[in-house]
Amino acid sequence: MKVLSGRMPCNTPNGSWLGMVKLTERVRNIEYAIRDVVVHAKRLEKAGRKVIYLNIGDPVKYDFPTPQHIKGALIEAVKGDFNWYAPSEGLPELREAVCEKEKKYNRVDLSPEDVIVTHGVSEGIQMVMAALVEPGAEVLVPGPSYPPYPAFIKFFGGKPVAYRTVEEAGWQPDVEDMASKVTAKTCGIVVVNPNNPCGALYEEQTIKDIVDLAAQHGLPVFSDEIYDRIVYGRKFTSTSAVAGETPVIGLNGFSKTYLMTGWRLGYVYIHDPEGKLGDLKQNIEKEARIRLSANTPMQKAAVAALRGPQDHIPEMVEKLRARRDYVWRRFNEMKGLSCAKPEGAFYVFPKIEDVSRWGSDRDFALSLLDETGVLLVHGSGFDTVYGFSHFRMVFLPPLETLEEALDRLEKFMAKN
Ligand SMILES: Cc1ncc(COP(=O)(O)O)c(C=O)c1O
Repeated sequence: MKVLSGRMPCNTPNGSWLGMVKLTERVRNIEYAIRDVVVHAKRLEKAGRKVIYLNIGDPVKYDFPTPQHIKGALIEAVKGDFNWYAPSEGLPELREAVCEKEKKYNRVDLSPEDVIVTHGVSEGIQMVMAALVEPGAEVLVPGPSYPPYPAFIKFFGGKPVAYRTVEEAGWQPDVEDMASKVTAKTCGIVVVNPNNPCGALYEEQTIKDIVDLAAQHGLPVFSDEIYDRIVYGRKFTSTSAVAGETPVIGLNGFSKTYLMTGWRLGYVYIHDPEGKLGDLKQNIEKEARIRLSANTPMQKAAVAALRGPQDHIPEMVEKLRARRDYVWRRFNEMKGLSCAKPEGAFYVFPKIEDVSRWGSDRDFALSLLDETGVLLVHGSGFDTVYGFSHFRMVFLPPLETLEEALDRLEKFMAKN
């Protein structure tokens, strides 16, 4: 076989493999603790054990089905032949509906051209980081952090730098620590509010302080607000609502509030009243063009979600509040654990008082899984420093399931 210069042959003329294809470091280095732990759980299930999955933040897998009127709108869209490629930036009516929603609930002024519809916030993170992270650039991320932020920053050759969030203050960001970590290489600050994995809801003053810091250094804020309407008391403040002329790249979507996780739809918007971000928007639109468009029928359904009845949201929040209260009380009564009270989203991030008994928080999670069949995610999967000695649990399941899981955990804690 003729070998093209500089290229290793992967197979021979008779089709047998000579060697492995060479994979990029980029993909080799991807880690995602939330889904990686599932491998161990599947092994147990294969051996006939029942596993209680408390690792993934998908409300639709529990007793929070997608509302009927949203499902109906999807069916109508498909039947009505809205099955073509949509404009790459999103259907105009959806971009308008997003502006109405952001104005009504979050006090954010946008025009439809500021909004780009994506396949979930996940694709939004990818597009934004692809546009702004040069190799070697640093991005400040919360410690602990929702893993796709550090993962995509690394994917594009950048360096995530975790800023401290303070457990004793309900996991509020430590803005002084954040300030001390700004360098000449910093290209933005990620804020996740309400927060995954900690359930924190950031105080308005803290957000203003972050915005001031960003303004001082000429940095944009990336503000993930996917849990904006899942809060348990205090009011949610959108970063863009208090940003003034500081640029904010907002990320939001339909997975959580509108219970459309599997439908993969979200949006990115650019709040930049003084045009400080130059042609970032046009360049994110170029990225949107090379993947053609987001799902068209889903976008029609998303318009119905935003403009239709909203009753399922307070109902969901009330159900979740009871689960949050239950879980939080049980954790604080349990030997060897303590827990800050989540004020938003549907996660708790308790502290394991003496994790050295197991080795690490990962060893803790794996032995808990082995002994009890309860699957949690180890805290260091969210940040090796700020997440260490913790674990994340979702409080999405019905109370009976939570009770069963926590009884097993309590026995495990008492025994070990
Ligand atoms: C903070 C945060 N952002 C984004 C996502 C993913 O959103 P989407 O389903 O829109 O991709 C999640 C999902 O857990 C999340 O917790």
